[in-house]
Amino acid sequence: MLSRLIGSMLAAALCTAATASDEGEDHDLIGLMGQMQYFSHKLDLSIRAQNRKLVDFYAHEIEETLEATTEIEAYHGKPVGELTEAMLAPAFKRFEQAVDDKSGGWETIDDRFWELVDACNACHQATEYGFINIQRTDANPYMQSFENENP
Ligand code: HEC
Repeated sequence: MLSRLIGSMLAAALCTAATASDEGEDHDLIGLMGQMQYFSHKLDLSIRAQNRKLVDFYAHEIEETLEATTEIEAYHGKPVGELTEAMLAPAFKRFEQAVDDKSGGWETIDDRFWELVDACNACHQATEYGFINIQRTDANPYMQSFENENP
């Protein structure tokens, strides 16, 4: 963390035009977004199956992807990191709270997941990618069972 901070300070000092061009941006936003979609889809299937272990697992993967996205300063002039922090992080925290708070039950977890997906789409609109519209689905195209075999 500290070395990354020092590294980015150094990079900013050495390269005064660090954010001037998209070519100079060293990030993989499209890869992270693919992961967001992949893990959100699997999380959706895990919620539908009421599989707590898988919900925890995929929520954690989304959290890691979210953290990596907050480190992206800009994409096409849009402050992707700040927007992720402001729009997606609060929705994710609320989702996580619903998962941790076992009294709320699966209905609350499902509601919070809807809000998480809404946050994805709100950020797509904020970055002028509103045409990328994430929607929930119960289709399982994976060679994986989401069933709760060890309840
Ligand atoms: C910072 C705001 C922001 C947030 C939050 C955000 N996205 Fe994105 N998303 C973008 C931008 C910008 C692009 C276009 C990236 C590009 O052109 O490289 C994108 C592209 C995508 C794509 C197209 C890439 C592909 O593989 O088809 C998908 C899918 C996607 N996002 C899913 C999600 C999901 C799911 C979430 C929520 C869990 C999410 N995004 C949250 C800004 C955001």
